[in-house]
Amino acid sequence: MLRTHTCGELRADHDGSETTLCGWVHRRRDHGGLIFIDLRDRYGFTQVVFDPENKEQFAMAEKVRPEWVLKIEGKVRGRIDGAVRDDNPTGAIEVVVGTATVLNESKTPPFEIDQDKDIGEDVRLEYRFLDLRRTRMQKNLKLRNDIVQAVREYFHKNDFLEIETPIMVKGTPEGSREYLVPSRLHHGNFYVLPQSPQQLKQLLMVAGVDKYFQVPRCFRDEDQRGDRQPEFTQFEIEMSFVEQEDILTQLEECFVELTAKIRPDKKIQSTPFPRMTYKDAMETYGSDKPDLRFELKFTDVTDIAKECDFKVFSAAETVKAMNVPGGGKMSRKDIDDLTDLAQRHGAKGLAWVRVGEDSGPVVKNAGETFLKTLNEKTGAKDGDIIFFAAGEYPHALEPLGEVRKAAAKMLDMIDTSIWSYVWILDFPMFEKSKETGAVGAVHHPFTRPHADDEELFETDPLAARATAYDLALDGNEIGGGSMRIHERALQKKIFDVLGITDEDADQRFGHMLRAFEYGAPPHGGIAFGLDRVCMIFADEPNIREVIAFPKDQKAKDLMLGSPSPMPQEQLEELGIAILED
Ligand code: AMO
Ligand code: AMP
Repeated sequence: MLRTHTCGELRADHDGSETTLCGWVHRRRDHGGLIFIDLRDRYGFTQVVFDPENKEQFAMAEKVRPEWVLKIEGKVRGRIDGAVRDDNPTGAIEVVVGTATVLNESKTPPFEIDQDKDIGEDVRLEYRFLDLRRTRMQKNLKLRNDIVQAVREYFHKNDFLEIETPIMVKGTPEGSREYLVPSRLHHGNFYVLPQSPQQLKQLLMVAGVDKYFQVPRCFRDEDQRGDRQPEFTQFEIEMSFVEQEDILTQLEECFVELTAKIRPDKKIQSTPFPRMTYKDAMETYGSDKPDLRFELKFTDVTDIAKECDFKVFSAAETVKAMNVPGGGKMSRKDIDDLTDLAQRHGAKGLAWVRVGEDSGPVVKNAGETFLKTLNEKTGAKDGDIIFFAAGEYPHALEPLGEVRKAAAKMLDMIDTSIWSYVWILDFPMFEKSKETGAVGAVHHPFTRPHADDEELFETDPLAARATAYDLALDGNEIGGGSMRIHERALQKKIFDVLGITDEDADQRFGHMLRAFEYGAPPHGGIAFGLDRVCMIFADEPNIREVIAFPKDQKAKDLMLGSPSPMPQEQLEELGIAILED
């Protein structure tokens, strides 16, 4: 090693000893007489002192700039009273330089590494190798490592086998658009990158693995958001001979342990984690991942709305009211911002009533009786504000769910010392696409329907429930899974509802159907978004902060410069011609 200690290692009891440190110049302070440099590496910071009497070294220290790489040989010395820094583990000592060697110089970085300032994200991503030197990012890298290690330990200790599955698989669209990999040996044919190892982990159950686990990379060509990346990491399991209850209990234990280990400062709101059906979550919170750290709930007022004179309400399939205690103090601008938010999420508008005041469109239109019963039903008092959602279930409720979260933030109603995990159960089996009207699987086509709801397939498929579950944490969907189909006949029934013909099914899912004919065990599983879990555990606002080399919002890697054009010969080898736009 070029060093004897790291920059985070020396303590008061090293006083008087010789040391050699290597690291980057984090900060340099020229105090006329003395030059101080904070030398940085992954482990911490150590103050090194250049004395003018050591002429040659002092002259060199005057030239040194931030991010130069130095090797410092010197003597550890306890700091004088008043100079001790309790906020730095090495703050009791400093190193008096004997010999300093420049191992490498650095250009002036495009942003300051030693400051916690807001820096444009594009330049951070282009110079990610510098961005990752910053304390915040070093902390995030370490935290992610600790989480992965804890999760692995948990599953190994519970007898799960870690098994890798291929990254080049077959195109069998399950939901999102897939990334394609052209085949050189078979022109016109493609591998795809897996959206998840869903089918393979089910086949491992057929193979008798019993308890499987993996930390796989998944790929989805979808529009980017703060909590989505085109390639992301899951940690996921699959288990045989289990029921839904077993999977929920196992994962709940995993998260209780993980939280205690990584974020002991957070109190879990309730254990066992509360459970809620998808329908109740939508009807009460306008979200299938409700944040339960604050109370705000919806009250159904469809019945009284039907009788009132306000067209927006009386004509709607469902009307919900959300009373926000103390919300009367919101300014007109706050209300306008919430209205914009509701509209961005698909609402036509956001009706509201300031309780005890004669203002707002609802007061003018809906009439005395409506308002009186409304206050009784919602328990609203003077000084509160009530917001409304009117329209079709479940779409009309989502905008009010967004207003719920934003209003809680505005009024500082969120207790950030607690974490609220909640299981959402009984998702619908099928949904109708907003764009095409076609019936598709909500989770994926291998999800097991509720035993009681199979007969609905023919009469009312959209009402059929799945044995599918999500885990949400403080308003984020962190994981989801389901019990699976293991019988060929039932799988065919589902394909029928989805309009997948026998021929098509055989072409796309022949391997699954075949496997189901050879003694597939009952099984189920779940997958967690590792990046999302890390984002929450790190208190970061988006998942790019917890991924070493993420793509930007347009799915570009600004550091590597991908995606990029390929040389003509390489395309020809693959049998690919590019169409001009
Ligand atoms: P699902 O599609 O719900 O389930 O994904 C599981 C979890 O992965 C995370 N996630 C993402 N994270 C970052 N970027 C993305 N683009 C992204 N998409 C999903 C979410 C989500 O809860 N095979 C099933 C699981 C199963 O049934 O066992 C699956 O992939 O946190
Ligand atoms: P309008 O009659 O369209 O002017 O709407 C009257 C009020 O009702 C306005 O405050 C709108 O923001 C609100 N509003 C309109 N449509 C809805 C809806 N679907 N849900 C809740 N409020 C609405």
